[in-house]
Amino acid sequence: MAVLLAGGAGFIGTHTAVEFLNAGYDVVIADNLYNSKSAAVRRVEEITGRSVAFYEIDVCDKDALRKLFSEQSIEAVVHFAGMKAVGESVAKPLQYYSNNLGTTIALLTVMKEFGCRCIVFSSSATVYGKSNPVPLFETMPRGECTNPYGWTKWMNEQIIMDACTADPELSGVLLRYFNPIGAHESGRIGEDPQGIPNNIFPFITQVAVGRRPQLTIFGDDYDTPDGTGIRDYIHVVDLAKGHVAAVPYAKKHPGAKVINIGTGKGTSVFEMVNTFERVNGVKIPYVIGERRPGDLPESYANADEAEKLLGWHAEKTLEDMCRDGYRWQTLNPMGYGG
Ligand code: WQD
Repeated sequence: MAVLLAGGAGFIGTHTAVEFLNAGYDVVIADNLYNSKSAAVRRVEEITGRSVAFYEIDVCDKDALRKLFSEQSIEAVVHFAGMKAVGESVAKPLQYYSNNLGTTIALLTVMKEFGCRCIVFSSSATVYGKSNPVPLFETMPRGECTNPYGWTKWMNEQIIMDACTADPELSGVLLRYFNPIGAHESGRIGEDPQGIPNNIFPFITQVAVGRRPQLTIFGDDYDTPDGTGIRDYIHVVDLAKGHVAAVPYAKKHPGAKVINIGTGKGTSVFEMVNTFERVNGVKIPYVIGERRPGDLPESYANADEAEKLLGWHAEKTLEDMCRDGYRWQTLNPMGYGG
C-alpha cells in the first residue's frame, strides 16, 4: 500500500515524501512540474535511499489519475496539487479556480472509484480571513479571503466537507498550515520559488547568499510590539511530520476534520531577521517600505487540537528554521535550477 502525494514534487511535498518514506510507507508522487522540478524527487530518493514512483501528470486529468490508481495500491492521498502564488491568483483567477478546484474534484472522483477513503488536504490559515482574533482556533468561522488563491483553499475545504457528508466512509483531514519555512537538514531539498519570492523567508535566504541586494520590510507601523507583522513560522520538516500523523487518524475517523498545523508562537519580522543574522553570522540589509495590501498585523495558531488528535506538535525552533534554510540556500544558490 502506498500514499499518493498529489503535487508532491514541491517544497512541502518533497519534505513530506521524505517523512512518509522514513516512516516506512511507499510513496507515489503525481505532479505536472508547473512550479517544481523533477530533480527534487530524485533528491528525495537520495536522502532516503528509497525509490519513489513519479507520475508527471496533470492532477485535474481523471484518466491519468485512473491509470495511476490502477497501477498503484493507494491507501491515502495527500493533496498539495494547487497553484499557490497570491499575486498571480489575482491576475489569473480563472486559472486558479479551474486548476485548484479541478485537482480536488478529480482526486475525490477517482478515489471513490478505487475505494480510497482518506484524503489529507493542504489548507491554509488564510481561510480564517481578517476578522478572527489570535490565537486562531479551528472552531472559529472561516472568514473573507483577500485573493482567489485563498478562496480556492476555502472552497476546497467546503468541497471535501460536502464530499464527506455525502459519503460516510470518506475521511478528509484539512490541515491549516501557518508559515512553513526552513529545509531538510541535508540541504539537498528546500524552497525554490520561481522569480522574486513573495514570502519573506526565501527572500531573506536569497539576500543572505547575495542573490538580492536587500530585504524590504513591508511596514513597521503595525499595532504589534515592534511594529512589524507577526506570524507563526513552522519548520517544514515539522509540518511534513504532521501529515504522517494525519493518515492513521484519517483511517480511524471518517468525516471531515480541520486541524491547525502551527507552533502556537508568533514571531515578528524584526525577530526573524535578527535571529537569522545571529544564527548564521550574516547581515541582512533591509529598508522599511509601505505595508503590503492584505497583510494582517498578526496571525498565529492555537495548536492544541493537533496534539490532542494527532499526537503531533512542532519540535524545531526558529533557530533550526534559520540554520536549515540558510544551509539549503548556500548549497543551492540558484535552487534546483543552478
Ligand atoms: C510574512 C511577513 C509580511 C515579504 C503567505 C500566504 C499564506 C501562506 C503563507 C500558503 C508579513 C512580511 C514578507 C517581504 C516582508 N501560503 N514580509 N517583506 O503573507 O503571512 O502568508 O505565506 O498557504 O497563504 O499569504 O507570508 O512570508 O509573505 O509574509 O516584510 O519581502 O513578512 O508583511 O508580515 P504571509 P509572507
